[in-house]
Amino acid sequence: MKTISIEGRSGCSTIYVGARLEDIPAALPLDRTVIVTDPVVQQALGNRFPACPVVEIGTGETAKTLDTLAAVCRRFIALGLNRDSFVLAIGGGVVCDLAGFAAATYLRGVRFGFAPTTLLAQVDASVGGKNGVNLDGYKNMVGLFVQPEAVWCDPTVLASLPAREVGCGMAEIIKHGAIADLELIERLETQRDAALGLDPDVIADLVYRSLRIKAAVVARDERESGERRQLNFGHTFGHAVEKVTGAPHGEAVARGMALAARLSCTLGSLAGIDARRLIDLITAYGLPTGIAGEPEALIDALAKDKKRAGDQVHFVLLKALGRAVVRPIPLSILEKEFYRL
Ligand SMILES: NC(=O)c1ccc[n+]([C@@H]2O[C@H](COP(=O)([O-])OP(=O)(O)OC[C@H]3O[C@@H](n4cnc5c(N)ncnc54)[C@H](O)[C@@H]3O)[C@@H](O)[C@H]2O)c1
Ligand SMILES: [Zn+2]
Repeated sequence: MKTISIEGRSGCSTIYVGARLEDIPAALPLDRTVIVTDPVVQQALGNRFPACPVVEIGTGETAKTLDTLAAVCRRFIALGLNRDSFVLAIGGGVVCDLAGFAAATYLRGVRFGFAPTTLLAQVDASVGGKNGVNLDGYKNMVGLFVQPEAVWCDPTVLASLPAREVGCGMAEIIKHGAIADLELIERLETQRDAALGLDPDVIADLVYRSLRIKAAVVARDERESGERRQLNFGHTFGHAVEKVTGAPHGEAVARGMALAARLSCTLGSLAGIDARRLIDLITAYGLPTGIAGEPEALIDALAKDKKRAGDQVHFVLLKALGRAVVRPIPLSILEKEFYRL
């Protein structure tokens, strides 16, 4: 097992990569802990949960609401949670985002930690201190930054995860390699079969390298005023594709990374051979790399992007594989890129 520490202004977090769910009870005030999960995770892993009361929320994005938050807080009251209690979220990004928000606001904040059960939650959602819910169709509209006290990443919990969900997590790992770690790109290339076969040692290694990058960026820029924007590589265009086509987040980001790599070549910052290498890697993980959606609708979605400044968008480009740079790009150049393909 390897550990990573994040010391943020919103708290300190220790991440245990390669842990097992069975290790968690030793670290908890077990008689004062409540688990938050969803029914799919409960069904797949419930027999490995610590022996504590369980609060269930619904599955998927539609469960990430203020109504669910209120329902969870009511259950906390009924279970008698007080300032000494501990909330343990066991689930994907939806469960972690919602339970983190509930724990950070219930009684103005109780202790909490995560055992992420999707690959995406292990390499992204559970780390960084962002908690929150959606509102009226706007994603993550209400929330706050508070670091979970501990995060336990157990590679064996992923065994029941559908292949498409595994692919979405892989897209975020590829992203971390592309922006900051050429060695991670190399490992993804050489260990593809073991990675997609969810070999626990290989997964733990990929999650560890991936989180080291996210943790380092978050520690330097917790509230995303500058450097944390690098983590949005592939996301500006990815979010537009997600909105226009309804594609799963990781698949939309895969298309966004391929577009950003091609754009980096067009603008002269990245060698063609490196763009090709990244696109081949994305394809090798079964992820799409083309443009999806009508160009007009995509431009419209980009124009509404939160990270827009005037008629330019803050766009993450690559200088090399493993080195990112954030640049304002005029929407007109992005539009041309869509029609070039
Ligand atoms: N806080 C952050 O920094 C951050 C970063 C990225 C994403 N997110 C959020 O994370 C969410 C997406 O997370 P996600 O992709 O984990 O989705 P999710 O939580 O909806 O999980 C996907 C599906 O997999 C199921 N599942 C979970 N673990 C399983 C397992 N071990 N076996 C079988 N099925 C399992 C869930 O029940 C769900 O149906 C979004 O709401 C997004 O906004 C947050
Ligand atoms: Zn993402």
